[in-house]
Amino acid sequence: MRDPDGHPVVAAALDWVMAPFAALRPRVVGSARGRVLEVGAGTGANFAHYGEAVTEVVAIEPDPFMRRRAEPRRAAAAIPITLLPDGAEDLPFDDASFDEAVLTWVLCTIPDAPRALREVFRVLKPGGTAHFIEHVVSRTGAMRVLQGAADPLWARVAGGCHLTRDAAGLLADAGFAVQVHRTYGGTCSPFPLVLGLATKPSASGTS
Ligand SMILES: C[S@@+](CC[C@H](N)C(=O)[O-])C[C@H]1O[C@@H](n2cnc3c(N)ncnc32)[C@H](O)[C@@H]1O
Repeated sequence: MRDPDGHPVVAAALDWVMAPFAALRPRVVGSARGRVLEVGAGTGANFAHYGEAVTEVVAIEPDPFMRRRAEPRRAAAAIPITLLPDGAEDLPFDDASFDEAVLTWVLCTIPDAPRALREVFRVLKPGGTAHFIEHVVSRTGAMRVLQGAADPLWARVAGGCHLTRDAAGLLADAGFAVQVHRTYGGTCSPFPLVLGLATKPSASGTS
């Protein structure tokens, strides 16, 4: 169900759908530090997991139905969190103005993911790190075919989410040095996960 300004049904279902993955959130978010950009914060499910090393989170979320659900979590968080309605493709922030970024299950949905990642790269400081967990296209041919076949219908019912994106490849194409630390789901899942760090090389070329 599609609202011109957002996805009310997807927003209502998101916490329920994502509940099986809740234990993974602290693994992605818990090591973040400094001033953090969270991209596509959804209902704010990560907000409670930021640790004391985070000084401030600026979270962007263009869907008003998601933001409405995220707001109580923002207000209850132990650290200052600002929630803005911007999309990631045009970030209203200065170059090199964030220490780190967080992307959880969002590169599947952002309409122009390459452009969004160029923006995340721009606003991160040299040496800055993006902490990510994403569901991705399968490594096996048969599952890839299934994902490709299901993708048009899935994208319609799941708020623009795609099964066929290669998160690590997209991050690398944007200029990040990508380290995949864990994968989940194996070759039989239509939602294999990759968890890792993507670092903007420092000016000297080292991360
Ligand atoms: C599957 S949800 C994940 C939400 C959240 N990151 C989480 O871990 O639960 C994908 C999110 O991406 C958001 N999104 C869609 N287009 C976006 C864009 N252009 N920029 C940033 N976020 C976007 C959606 O509104 C939605 O909240």
